[in-house]
Amino acid sequence: MRTAAQHVSFVLLLLLVSMAAVRSTAGVQQGQWYSVMDFHAAGDGATSDVEAFEETWKVACSSHSSEVIMYVHPRRKGKTFLLNQTRFNGPCKSPITVQLEGDVVAPNSFYLKPSDVLTFYGVDNLTVNGSGQIDGRGAQWWDCYNQKSLSFAHCNNLRVTNIRLKDGAEKNMIMYECTQVQVHNVSITAPGDSPNTDGINMGSSNHVNISSCSMHTGDDCVSILSGTTNVNVTNTTCGPGHGISVGSLGGVADGPTLVEKITVSNCSFFNTTTGVRIKSWQALATGFLFIKLRMTAVRLPIDIDQFYCPQGNCPPQSVPCHDIYLKNVNLSWANHIAPAQAIVQNAHGSVTGTVKPQTQFAGN
Ligand SMILES: *[C@@H]1O[C@H](CO)[C@@H](O)[C@H](O)[C@H]1NC(C)=O
Ligand SMILES: *[C@@H]1O[C@H](CO)[C@@H](O)[C@H](O)[C@H]1NC(C)=O
Ligand SMILES: *[C@@H]1O[C@H](CO)[C@@H](O)[C@H](O)[C@H]1NC(C)=O
Ligand SMILES: *[C@@H]1O[C@H](CO)[C@@H](O)[C@H](O)[C@H]1NC(C)=O
Ligand SMILES: *[C@@H]1O[C@H](CO)[C@@H](O)[C@H](O)[C@H]1NC(C)=O
Ligand SMILES: *[C@@H]1O[C@H](CO)[C@@H](O)[C@H](O)[C@H]1NC(C)=O
Ligand SMILES: *[C@@H]1O[C@H](CO)[C@@H](O)[C@H](O)[C@H]1NC(C)=O
Ligand SMILES: *[C@@H]1O[C@H](CO)[C@@H](O)[C@H](O)[C@H]1NC(C)=O
Ligand SMILES: *[C@@H]1O[C@H](CO)[C@@H](O)[C@H](O)[C@H]1NC(C)=O
Ligand SMILES: *[C@@H]1O[C@H](CO)[C@@H](O)[C@H](O)[C@H]1NC(C)=O
Repeated sequence: MRTAAQHVSFVLLLLLVSMAAVRSTAGVQQGQWYSVMDFHAAGDGATSDVEAFEETWKVACSSHSSEVIMYVHPRRKGKTFLLNQTRFNGPCKSPITVQLEGDVVAPNSFYLKPSDVLTFYGVDNLTVNGSGQIDGRGAQWWDCYNQKSLSFAHCNNLRVTNIRLKDGAEKNMIMYECTQVQVHNVSITAPGDSPNTDGINMGSSNHVNISSCSMHTGDDCVSILSGTTNVNVTNTTCGPGHGISVGSLGGVADGPTLVEKITVSNCSFFNTTTGVRIKSWQALATGFLFIKLRMTAVRLPIDIDQFYCPQGNCPPQSVPCHDIYLKNVNLSWANHIAPAQAIVQNAHGSVTGTVKPQTQFAGN
């Protein structure tokens, strides 16, 4: 389907039943290790460890080795690291792994402005792995600020595996201008009613695989923004949250932007407001494949809205959406209390196999 403008919406309205849980595997590491404790991290959850982390990073990042590991100590040894606006800049001399086994927490103080907890900038061949957790302690900020727990900018060949993110003050993880990214077995949790707590938010990035993750958030589980191509989300569970969302694309100021080749497969949605969603305005969005998805207690399982105009001031142009292809869709209200509905406006496509609720396109 293709988006060149607005006034196109296509909405399926319903509820249905099923479930899932997934896990997968990781490798082993050898190489040059640098421990934050050797750089005088306190790890007591009360003293700032920013300096120790940044010093460890500086040394690790300039080390020559086939593999460099920056090690953050495990929770079972009682270590909790207090971090605030910690920045890890590249480029580094070698591929580098941050082995996060301990827990990281953001400051708990009400009167200070929050800031991003961990930021990686311009680091190629980076892996962030481990059983540790990053707790953004976001509850105190949910009404006011914009903080990310974990952000990556200009990182090529990035792997984020196994870690857990909790209660980000705003976005839990963001990627900007990253390429060749693998996010695997990452769990993200925030209360269903926490505002703007996207799970993973990405812009201007490409070749991104998200697999076997679990996301329980107050906003989009995965949000795919302008300039992003070749994304695969698979084996992932979402909910509560707002589903997997493409957009908002093409804000008036941005001009036409491209999002293409997005695949969402073998994922489960539970108790989400939408399942898969494309919301765009004056953008070019093309090549979406949504396949093998299970939706339970989802208000709008499929939502394609090319007349997304939250400000309400968009000109009433009408460029229809093309090539929507529905095959074997089976959606119904839980408890069959009402018929599920498909709403199609100015959208073209075709239907094969069993498609419930019945959906009538105007042809292609
Ligand atoms: C799809 O997900 C289910 C459950 O989450 C898992 O058992 C199955 O192996 C997955 N299928 C593929 C092809 O990955
Ligand atoms: C990731 O960390 C786990 C331990 O938490 C370890 O067993 C595994 O080898 C690591 N994987 C990679 C790719 O570094
Ligand atoms: C990152 O990996 C690429 C491809 O393997 C390699 O060309 C490059 O030198 C590596 N850079 C670092 C800093 O490891
Ligand atoms: C967090 O970092 C900012 C900027 O460096 C600083 O103003 C603030 O005091 C720090 N907060 C805490 C609790 O350390
Ligand atoms: C997935 O991550 C969790 C939490 O870090 C870990 O306990 C589990 O072993 C990981 N699963 C696999 C298959 O690596
Ligand atoms: C993403 O997964 C595909 C297989 O589905 C693989 O070919 C590709 O290399 C992966 N890309 C990254 C960046 O991990
Ligand atoms: C669905 O999520 C909402 C919060 O968004 C929560 O209040 C409610 O209990 C959840 N329902 C179920 C069935 O999990
Ligand atoms: C996404 O998955 C499809 C089919 O499994 C594969 O052809 C494609 O290369 C994958 N894309 C990425 C970016 O890994
Ligand atoms: C999805 O999960 C299945 C079953 O756990 C596993 O076999 C498959 O490799 C997973 N796919 C990816 C891309 O991680
Ligand atoms: C559709 O789902 C309902 C249960 O929600 C099931 O009874 C029915 O057999 C399914 N139909 C098809 C064609 O799979």
